[in-house]
This record gives sequence, structure tokens and C-alpha cells, in this order.
Amino acid sequence: MFDPYISKTQSSKDLYERAKKFLPAGVSYAIRYFEPYPFYTVRARGSKLYDVDGNEYIDFWLGHTALILGHSPPAVMNAVKKQIEIGTHFGTSHELEIELAEQVAKMVPSAEMIRFTNSGTEANMYAARLARAYTGRNKIVKFEGGWHGGYDALHVGVKHPFDIPESAGLTNGALQDTIVAPFNNLEGVKEKVRDETVAAIVIEPMLGAGGCIPAEKEFLKELRDLCDEKGILLIFDEVVTGFRLAPGGGQQYYSVIPDITVFGKILGGGFPIGAFCGRRDVMERLNTLIYERPRYSFHGGTFSANPVSMTAGLATLKLLEDGHLINKMNNVGEKIREQIKEIFEANGIDVQVTGAGSLFSAHFTREEVKDTRAVFRADRKKLVEYHLSLIANGVFFLPTHMGALSTAHSEADIQKLFSETEKYAKLCGK
Ligand SMILES: Cc1ncc(COP(=O)(O)O)c(C=O)c1O
Repeated sequence: MFDPYISKTQSSKDLYERAKKFLPAGVSYAIRYFEPYPFYTVRARGSKLYDVDGNEYIDFWLGHTALILGHSPPAVMNAVKKQIEIGTHFGTSHELEIELAEQVAKMVPSAEMIRFTNSGTEANMYAARLARAYTGRNKIVKFEGGWHGGYDALHVGVKHPFDIPESAGLTNGALQDTIVAPFNNLEGVKEKVRDETVAAIVIEPMLGAGGCIPAEKEFLKELRDLCDEKGILLIFDEVVTGFRLAPGGGQQYYSVIPDITVFGKILGGGFPIGAFCGRRDVMERLNTLIYERPRYSFHGGTFSANPVSMTAGLATLKLLEDGHLINKMNNVGEKIREQIKEIFEANGIDVQVTGAGSLFSAHFTREEVKDTRAVFRADRKKLVEYHLSLIANGVFFLPTHMGALSTAHSEADIQKLFSETEKYAKLCGK
């Protein structure tokens, strides 16, 4: 299975040997490792990545789905170049943070006030704390398969089997106030919260890392009602879905408005970012001019509202704002989901292709995939094999992870995805 890849990536193999000596597992993020070793990127442009051996890959991973305009889009790069000339980091207040806050408020239904962080993990951490500060309650509900970054209180119930801790070093103290609920199953959620006093329910409108599984609209609406009924804050983690499913993210796509929303990825226009935003009365808990210790909720960070990230984010959102590019990508996403399913089925292979908008993922199973349990019942080995076969033929998916579209993907890129999928399907369908 690895031979075609190894024969094309000898310089990457050497680099990986070097990397292993100084970087645990040879990588800077565990998920970036894949067998037999990752390739090493030297440059990227538009829809393509180029590795140290001179191989070209059509990139459907897109920097963890962040690069919705592709790699180094000219409009963003030009703005960033100008910004770098006048300052890379101020550590003081500046107009760009206001402009990006205004832009987010214009696009996102729930965003009355916003604070910027440097990653999605941080934003989720501060959002959870804010919810606790506002409600005066401790418990947080998250969902099986939900990924919100590495913050202790949310780093639970991510992978099946859900009862095994996701990491060593998580204390019982950090986890005892976290409740893990079943996704797309309102009765299951009700059961979990029946005897609890809950501060917030945190949900990705579409499970990303958990299998690219959209929430059912009714489920989200009923979750909203449940929160209202019990005085629970509803937090949408839109780190993946934000500015992608629709200009206003999953909440606009589903017409369900959360109390707090968490962003990352696309918001930074290719630079590090995170943000949390929401209802004014909730966000005001961060206002040290109104609340003092112990009633205010802290947030901060040396690089918060970094001017380069703000500039890149603004240039990106301005291009996405009218929904034209997003609609176009969503239509292509629909076509991809249909066509991949058709190709495998024509070759006698059971597959479910999940996703929404410009995000998609294949699961080799006959069973409908409505939660992460079903993802782990599917043939994961075949998924790795499929992705490795694509990689060896110049189409990059991070093995087992979802694929994403950018405005830089061409019709030829999509056709190549189909033809390489067909090549693999024919081989394994025999
Ligand atoms: C839905 C979701 N939330 C939060 C995060 C964490 O963001 P970051 O990796 O920027 O810390 C991710 C990262 O993939 C994510 O997909």
C-alpha cells in the first residue's frame, strides 16, 4: 500500500528521520503524522501544495480547512504585505480590531460583541469560562465526537470508545463538570441534563473531525428550545463551519441562533486566529469597567487581535460577505458528495459520503452515518488506503480527515479527484 508513495517521497523520508529526533512523533501536531511518514511541503499556491521532492498535490486539506480562498490569495497577500511594512504586532489598541469586529457583526447573526484570540482552542476555553461566569453554573455539555481543541474541560468524548481519556494528564477535577451527550439525539441530551444544572451546551453545527456529519436541523432547533427552557447558554463552535457553510456560518445555514459563537481558521485569512462572540449582555461579562473580581470573566493574550491576522481576516471576509463564492463552492461540494458515492457504488463498494456545503468525507459502510459511533464502525482501514492512494497520485487529503473546497479549486482539480477516486474504486472493487 505504501510503495507508490515511498518511491516518490525520498527527500521527505530523510526529513522525517531528522524530524523524529527533535519533534515528538516528528510532527508539530499529532494529526499531521500519517503512515509511512508525512511529505514535507516547500511551497503552496492556489489549490496546490508542492513537496520537497517536487511533487504537486491538489490540496483538499487546506491548512485544516482554514484556507477557503486557497493558498496565498492575491487580495489577502497584498493587504498583508502592506501591513507587515507598518507593523506586525502592536500590543496596543488599533483600528483593525474594530474593523474586523464590525465585519463579523455584519455577517454573523449572533455576533453583537466579539473578542479575538490566537486559536480555536483558546476561544473555546474562554467561551466556556464566560458561560460559567454568566450563568454561575459549572457543568458544560459537549457531544460525542465533538472536537473543540485541546482545552481540558472540552477534551473528552472525542474518539470512540468515548470512555477512554483523550489524553493523559487530564485531571478528574477538570473533567467532572463535563457531560458528554449523543449527537443528533435530543432525547439522549435531555436524559443527560435532566438532573443537572448546566451552564452551556457546546456544539459544532456540523461535526468536523468527528466525521463531517451535519446536525439535523430539527435537532439544533430543539436544542435551542431546551437551552431556553433551562436557562442554558447555547454555544456554537463554528471554527470549521464559520464563514464557510454560509457567510454567517452554520447559524445562518440552519437559522438557529446561539448565545455564544466560537471562530478560528477562516477568520484569520491564513494567519493564526480565534474569536468568541455573542449576545451583548453575555459578552459584557468580559468588561472590566462594569464587572470586578470575582464577577468578571477574564480573557487576554499577547498576540490577541494581531494586526496581520486582522488584516488577512478582513480581506478574506470582504470577499465572502455577499455569499456568491460560498454558494458556488457549496454547489461543487454537493456535486462531489454525489459523484464520489456514485463512483464507489458503481464498483460495488458500500460508502456513505457525508458533509454539507463545501465539506465532505467518505465512510466505507452501508449504514447511514448520523454520529461518530457510525464513523468508527465503518471500514477505517479502507479510508486510509483510499486517501493514501489519492496522495500517491497527487491529491491530498489528510488520511481519514474530511476534505474542503476553496475558491482556488478548478474544474480540472475536481475531475482529477473523481478520476483518482475511480482508479482506486476499480482496484479495490475487484
Ligand atoms: C470545530 C473545532 N473547534 C476548535 C478547534 C481548535 O482550533 P485550533 O486548532 O485553532 O486550536 C478545531 C480545530 O480543528 C475545530 O475543528
